[in-house]
Amino acid sequence: MSALPTPRILLGPGPSSVTPRVLEALGRAPIGYLDPELFTILGDLRSNLRTVYGTKNDFTFPLTGTGMAGMESCLVNLVEAGDKVLIGVNGFFGLRMVEICRRLNADVTVINGEWGRILEPEAFAAELDKLGSVKLVACVHAETSTGVATPLAAIAELAHAHGALFLADMVTSLGGIPVEIDNWGVDVAYSGTQKCVGAPPGLSPLTISERAWEVATTRKTAVPNWYLDWKLLRAYYDAPHAYHHTVPVNLLFALQEALTEMMEEGLEARYARHRDVSAYLMEGLDKMGIRLFSQEGYRLPNLNAIHVPEGVTDEVAVRKRLLEEFGLEIGGGLGDLKGKIWRIGTMGASATRRNVALLVAALNEIL
Ligand SMILES: Cc1ncc(COP(=O)(O)O)c(C=O)c1O
Repeated sequence: MSALPTPRILLGPGPSSVTPRVLEALGRAPIGYLDPELFTILGDLRSNLRTVYGTKNDFTFPLTGTGMAGMESCLVNLVEAGDKVLIGVNGFFGLRMVEICRRLNADVTVINGEWGRILEPEAFAAELDKLGSVKLVACVHAETSTGVATPLAAIAELAHAHGALFLADMVTSLGGIPVEIDNWGVDVAYSGTQKCVGAPPGLSPLTISERAWEVATTRKTAVPNWYLDWKLLRAYYDAPHAYHHTVPVNLLFALQEALTEMMEEGLEARYARHRDVSAYLMEGLDKMGIRLFSQEGYRLPNLNAIHVPEGVTDEVAVRKRLLEEFGLEIGGGLGDLKGKIWRIGTMGASATRRNVALLVAALNEIL
């Protein structure tokens, strides 16, 4: 018996829906990981990634693995035991950066920001003054757990003034809101393909500046994780294309098609679509008296965090009905926000007025 899934409308925190064109690319017959055609595709794909990241970084590539592989890869390459690292945490994913750095026996300082609000540059300035020189400063750009986007340029500038590299998590921002790696001074960033980029999960687009490359390749000890070692990976993605691992070619086809669609739509038009669909959702929710969770002025248009409506005693049951009766997925809260908020993703191909109209109608009926 077939165990294939029921089609869903994905309005959760990811994955989001993909277009038929991307699915068609995913279904193409695989080719070899050393096939010259694959490197032509990878060349275009990497160039498109540079465009959406807003960077000239040569070493920009799709790492095999999801967003967490991207996070882990950046930290295992840049951080050695005893290194001073400063991490801003204002949500669930910042905590994961801290956990990984602790496992690497780094000397970790944490800025505990309020969940639902941005990280303030003043907090970084104060900690950096106390710490003196630091190897790495890191934070999440778009916190998927709370729906806020922290402005990064001022934090990057402070990091550089203290001799540190600046790392940003762009898993939820890339392709949905503007990202400007070079203008903001971000040295390293990772993302995922399954949110605003419009491809299935399984790849993590990475961008690594020359400065970060230098730090990673002149470290004292070997990178403890062989699979995620940038030097070994680069020898595959760049000439001479030495075998490292069997890259998931079908995911690469799908990502390249998703990026081509993105370039055809145009980045500005794409960001405007995300803003428009979010505003439309807000109109519908407002009429139902639902309150927003995230800090005004910094709300992500692609991840709408709202308080669970008053009077709802079993929020899980509401989400279950949305899924089972209407085929609609939305997300619950993570960590301390479990049971308190809902997270409605309007990301990539999922960001349409049609999806939002259906969700608002379904919620109205259930509530
Ligand atoms: C901000 C952020 N960072 C990291 C991750 C981890 O990505 P993945 O689940 O693709 O491994 C996610 C996933 O939701 C995320 O939202």
